[in-house]
Amino acid sequence: MRISIFGIGYVGAVSCGCLADLGHTLIGVDLSTEKVALLASGQSPIVEAEISELIAGNVANGRLTATTDVARAVAESDVSFVAVGTPSRADGSVSLDAVDAVLASIGAAIAKKPSAHTVVMRSTVPAGTAETRAIPILEKASGRKLGEGLFYYSNPEFLREGSAVRDFRVPPMTLIGAPEGDDAAILREIYAPITAPVHVVQFKLAESAKHLSNLYHAVKLSFANEAGAVLSALGVDAREAFRIFCEDRALNISSAYLRPGFAFGGSCLPKDTRSFVSLGEQAGVPIPFLQSVMKSNESVIERAFAMIAAHGRQDVAMFGLAFKPGTDDLRESPFVTLAERMIGRGYGLKIFDRSVNVAHLLGANRAYIEKEIPHIERLMAGDVASALSGTGIVVVGHVNGQDRIDLLAALDGQVVIDLAGIAELADLPGIQYQGFCW
Ligand SMILES: NC(=O)c1ccc[n+]([C@@H]2O[C@H](COP(=O)([O-])OP(=O)(O)OC[C@H]3O[C@@H](n4cnc5c(N)ncnc54)[C@H](O)[C@@H]3O)[C@@H](O)[C@H]2O)c1
Repeated sequence: MRISIFGIGYVGAVSCGCLADLGHTLIGVDLSTEKVALLASGQSPIVEAEISELIAGNVANGRLTATTDVARAVAESDVSFVAVGTPSRADGSVSLDAVDAVLASIGAAIAKKPSAHTVVMRSTVPAGTAETRAIPILEKASGRKLGEGLFYYSNPEFLREGSAVRDFRVPPMTLIGAPEGDDAAILREIYAPITAPVHVVQFKLAESAKHLSNLYHAVKLSFANEAGAVLSALGVDAREAFRIFCEDRALNISSAYLRPGFAFGGSCLPKDTRSFVSLGEQAGVPIPFLQSVMKSNESVIERAFAMIAAHGRQDVAMFGLAFKPGTDDLRESPFVTLAERMIGRGYGLKIFDRSVNVAHLLGANRAYIEKEIPHIERLMAGDVASALSGTGIVVVGHVNGQDRIDLLAALDGQVVIDLAGIAELADLPGIQYQGFCW
């Protein structure tokens, strides 16, 4: 395949060397005449393991050239990869100025080209860029419609500087954003020698999966750095503690707890988060990230309440009261907090939770709920039908087994706010469904 790469910085230079090494014909393009001159002479514009040899070898064998001439690069290639920078603006938002400019110049060059051309976004761009920005810019500049001599894919890059060549050759996946019904055959062909799984998804999903990855890496590092500093202040070898922590592949290093939804609660997570934060504060360790965890959780409950309140009516049935299904533990349940919020605002609330029998609650559990919601038994419904009767808004925290079947059968016309992500609810006709973050 004949490929032009726009932007020969860290991502572009590695792509030039590695794609040429896969047997493709590469043209590197940049505004910087210095970088172009270096690449054209067989030298790497970046310092990175293995890349100097790849570039020198492929320039020598004629598979890799470089130019500042956009029209020539587009005319002499079938596919253009965009790998220009997407830096932060002063307010934290991303600057897509270089992306916009390079797309406009590629589009103008496509307008002069008789054959079809494909543009691939490698730069990290926010969700929605393809549909609201990149494709419109390309269509306007080229005078073509997407799918008619103009093709566009989003193909985020996952490499890390320092191990970029290895990461390029063994990526976690090849992620492609494409229009509905397009299986991105051209990119599958380009990456055929790379054995990573290929996922072709909607543009927005591809763009956000990459964004999410970097955000998560930053969150992991902040967690490890702050928690490590607290441990170290307590005289613990933080690296050793983290080594043991990472041994748990069931809950710690796994997809557990990585499903977006409603707030956490129960008798352990809130208590132990507060206690760890308090240890850090007592030791004088700055831990702004860890201090924000409980605030973040409270904001999730606030967001659920705002969704309910936005409907402007107060006849609500809530399914689920304990912090998770199958237990009657109400301590620090986020559903208790949500219920309190509604009661405090004068809502006519009914609650159904098969596992919670207020009369049978004991000890700390009983004391907790009596303090938080006195006379809660008056709000508890004995079955699905009586919970639903006369209610216009149904909040689903959790409901399982026969109760879920009964609920699905009985719903008729209500607003349903789904905090649990129940697939059958989303597809249920005759209700006004609202998913919490899906
Ligand atoms: N660096 C990484 O490790 C890495 C990894 C994955 C993804 N990314 C993403 O890839 C993108 C590129 O990152 P980078 O680190 O390679 O950036 P970089 O700053 O090293 O390189 C960008 C290059 O684009 C060139 N450029 C700007 N406008 C141009 C134009 N109109 N035409 C041609 N060239 C132009 C610049 O001169 C520069 O050489 C960013 O979106 C980044 O977030 C970076």
